[in-house]
Amino acid sequence: MRGKFITLEGIDGAGKSTHLRWLARWLRRRGLAVKTTREPGGTPAGEQVRRLVLGSRHGLHPETETLLIFAARREHLDKVVIPSLKRGCWVLCDRFTDATYAYQSAGSGVGWEKVAMLERWVHRGCQPDLTLLFDVSPEIGRRRTGGRRLDRFEREKEAYYRRVRKAYLKRARSHPGRVRVIDAGASLSEVKKKLENIMSSFC
Ligand code: TYD
Repeated sequence: MRGKFITLEGIDGAGKSTHLRWLARWLRRRGLAVKTTREPGGTPAGEQVRRLVLGSRHGLHPETETLLIFAARREHLDKVVIPSLKRGCWVLCDRFTDATYAYQSAGSGVGWEKVAMLERWVHRGCQPDLTLLFDVSPEIGRRRTGGRRLDRFEREKEAYYRRVRKAYLKRARSHPGRVRVIDAGASLSEVKKKLENIMSSFC
């Protein structure tokens, strides 16, 4: 039986990496095979794209970033995501195409339609079965990432994150069957409880 494709999204500092690890353990305890992966990245070429895009040395045009991210995504879908799903694995992916709408389009000004065109081309009908959107205000997000080494995107201003957050919520509204919004400003135990409820009804 085909596995399920689950993506985790949210602005930087929303805590999705912690929740991804918890979710992987939760699913494995239920006897499911789980593959965890991330974007940009997930393949050797994709990880090189990640270094290129997230590094601060290159100063890439936002459209260049978008094209590179979708090129890496094509590889990732073809070599990792789709084969894993076909083997029956559940794929948990730390960010996916909703992030490109949020960061490159709303955040950096790439046309929404251009991202939609690349999405149609690259996905070829493959969409996540479930997207968990960890929603948090940019203020809380910034406080949480305060102690970590920041990548280029994380250093950008709060107005940028407000646009990113708004775009994520817009994606959630236009894909209500797929995207579940979780208030990630709540305590860790509350977030886990909500996550567990969602997963229990999904599995
Ligand atoms: P993140 O998963 O938060 O990495 P880390 O846990 O190491 O901080 O994401 C890395 C960055 O990639 C994040 O700032 C958002 C950015 N990103 C985009 O700008 N567009 C995309 O399409 C994706 C998938 C990520």
